[in-house]
Amino acid sequence: MYTSEEIIEKTKDFVKITLENAEGGHDWFHIERVYKNALLISKKENVDLFIVSLGALLHDIADSKFHNGDESIGPQKARAFLLDINVDSEAIEHVVKIIENISFKGGNVSQNFSSAELDVVQDADRLDALGAIGIARTFNYGGFKNRKLYDPSIEPDLNMNKEAYKASKAPTINHFYEKLLLLKNRMNTKTGTQIAIKRHNYMKSFLQQFYSEWNGEH
Ligand code: ADP
Ligand code: NI
Repeated sequence: MYTSEEIIEKTKDFVKITLENAEGGHDWFHIERVYKNALLISKKENVDLFIVSLGALLHDIADSKFHNGDESIGPQKARAFLLDINVDSEAIEHVVKIIENISFKGGNVSQNFSSAELDVVQDADRLDALGAIGIARTFNYGGFKNRKLYDPSIEPDLNMNKEAYKASKAPTINHFYEKLLLLKNRMNTKTGTQIAIKRHNYMKSFLQQFYSEWNGEH
């Protein structure tokens, strides 16, 4: 049997290798930031740090966006890896549930599982969608998908279901209204909310400046 520390180290190595060629917003550095955010939020929460750590490290091990929409690969990969290093089955099932339930998907999907550990990992992931990093990741993803930066004739769509959200080809600016600016009010924890508000305000001022420049103003 491995100690918890050894399991976490082995998981980091596994994630680094698996995400070696990942898109810039969903690579090992995203995972590392989410992991750090999760540990920070956990300081004020009553959670199992082992579960939080594994959930944060494995949450994007096979994001469905990069696997033809298949949502089962990530949980499967995580389960197989954790089984392989003899993690106990209760912990494995909890981590798998976190991976299955973390994603935004347009926000109009009801979650069928809840735990304090999921709340922390979800907040940690959401924080990395906000602020300066959030802006950088969003334009990187838009570029990866060959999206327009902005098109004033295409309005944001706030009523997308999960399928429409995933299939959207809208300009990247629309993603701010369809997801990023909604996150502040959906945070689960107090620490997460406090950080989210700061990052939210930063994005609002970015958008203001963006439109000024778009319109040939200062
Ligand atoms: P989901 O929104 O499906 O839960 P993620 O949490 O993996 O997806 O999204 C992570 C980040 O990827 C987003 O915060 C954003 O920066 C980028 N991203 C995802 N979908 C889009 C999109 N349609 N347009 C621009 N960026 C996107
Ligand atoms: Ni993520």
